[in-house]
Amino acid sequence: MTTRRARIAGTGMYVPERVVTNDDLAQLMDTSDAWIRQRSGIVERRFVVPGEQTPADLATRASQEALAVAGLEPGDVDCILLATLSAQHEFPGTSFFLHEQLGVGEIPCVDLRAQCSGFLYALSMADSLVRTARYERVLVVGCEVHSTGVELATRGRDVAVLFGDGAGAVIVEANDDPSDSAAILDVRLHAEGRHARKLWIEAPGASLAKTRVTHEMIDDGRIFPKMDGRFVFKHAVTRMPEVLLETLSGASLKLEDIDLFLFHQANLRINEYISQQLGIPAEKCLNNIDRYGNCSAASIPMLLAEAQRAGRLSPGTVAAMTAFGSGFTWGSAIVRF
Ligand code: UT7
Repeated sequence: MTTRRARIAGTGMYVPERVVTNDDLAQLMDTSDAWIRQRSGIVERRFVVPGEQTPADLATRASQEALAVAGLEPGDVDCILLATLSAQHEFPGTSFFLHEQLGVGEIPCVDLRAQCSGFLYALSMADSLVRTARYERVLVVGCEVHSTGVELATRGRDVAVLFGDGAGAVIVEANDDPSDSAAILDVRLHAEGRHARKLWIEAPGASLAKTRVTHEMIDDGRIFPKMDGRFVFKHAVTRMPEVLLETLSGASLKLEDIDLFLFHQANLRINEYISQQLGIPAEKCLNNIDRYGNCSAASIPMLLAEAQRAGRLSPGTVAAMTAFGSGFTWGSAIVRF
């Protein structure tokens, strides 16, 4: 009896049409194109038109492309896992609004909250659900609308300039064909909750006051993300190579066996530093942070979709995906297409 494997059958992405350049942000706060480019590598990002586009709208477009690429209909999916840190509402999760828009009957769906590593957490769970034959096909989505949650003013500039809106999706499906080597080869995940407050949004919160948000919290800016940037940077450049090497070892592969490296898009400097440390050639690393900024849980599936659109995910291609984010969370996945 062969062990059942799960493979990625199709990818998709969607970003809003509205382009916001560094110069546009400099109109709203004390920042500059030079500072943003030099510190992060970001040139522009996409923002939704507030009130007109929802997270589920972006997720739906990305999911529809992933389904079309895989040659599937929404009714072929058995379960939806959606990773996000910028939920459409307090509850229910964004996945339920995606569920409504896709028209997928009564299949289960759930939101996962593992921030910038969220897609890899969801991919790992989809892999397990498919390999244990619970489901044949799982739609895995990363989706963020950050633009309505950051403080677009000088007080919030250290975080606000880094983030963008977007969604990416993949179909994880069973592969029982022994002649087809496409598979999720290994996924490794970690977390360190003691650093939860180094990158977080405190309010609204169920532990704070009689109500989850007060006028005072809004005035104090406690509803906006706060980050100890240097601390996060230091941990990202340590944990990402560590977990990438752990996952390679789990998959019995070497760095040279990897055709494409897809690192989370938090900062181009982080990714350049990691590539340099590990001796990874630049042409094997895909980045899109210059065009989209940090789209958290959506960054890696967006990179995957861009790779597929560019014809870089041919049969046999081995891709390594690695992320680090709030929680702290970090993880890596090795996938053969
Ligand atoms: O996706 C989740 C994971 N996130 C990350 O991995 C992000 C990790 N951290 C980083 O990428 C970097 O720490 C940042 C890009 C966020 C910041 O770069 P940095 O070199 O660590 O800058 P800094 O925070 O130490 O700030 C340097 C200076 C400060 O001014 P002083 O104190 O030197 O006078 C800041 O006030 O830059 C100032 N600054 C800005 N100036 C212009 C902070 N934000 C801005 C801004 N525009 N947007």
